[in-house]
Amino acid sequence: ELTDITSLLLSRIRDVADYPEPGVMFKDITPLLADPAAFSALTDALAAVAASTGATKVVGLEARGFILGAPVAIRAGLGFIPVRKAGKLPGATLSQAYDLEYGSAEIEVHAEDLSADDRILIVDDVLATGGTAEASIELIRRAGAEVAGLAVLMELGFLGGRARLEPALAGAPLESLLKV
Ligand code: PRP
Repeated sequence: ELTDITSLLLSRIRDVADYPEPGVMFKDITPLLADPAAFSALTDALAAVAASTGATKVVGLEARGFILGAPVAIRAGLGFIPVRKAGKLPGATLSQAYDLEYGSAEIEVHAEDLSADDRILIVDDVLATGGTAEASIELIRRAGAEVAGLAVLMELGFLGGRARLEPALAGAPLESLLKV
């Protein structure tokens, strides 16, 4: 059954060569989102991770982590918290800067959304270098909450994100449904 889900999900991800720049193979998940059976199976699989980690809330990482994380939260019976790119949240925020290949980026969360009682499952579509996930883990910890785990649809193994995240995850699970 697991293999069936894997092949269903894989069959709905489109490889786009040289996007957003030459030499990059972009993994486009829009065909998967447009297929209700595949989207639902993905939601079930990620909600099962939420249940197995004992998460109390789901954090989604802008932007594709919102699309996946929100239905996962609903299906798991949990609240959803958006981690946004800087400047988009109106309330009191915590910010975390992180380095990109060229330059840097900053993500934010509403501080009041996270409490010391929370165990957070972070959801995103792709784990690449791990920079975004690493910064989100830091943000959640700084807000006083615990990281229950990280669940992604796809892990780009050749970029080494899993190894990079090991110290930050500190034993919390990293579940990827597909390894590319
Ligand atoms: C992509 C992806 C992850 C992140 C992974 O988001 O959805 O969030 O990059 O890369 P990393 O592991 O190297 O940090 P992107 O920044 O393209 O944002 P978007 O979803 O808003 O397009």
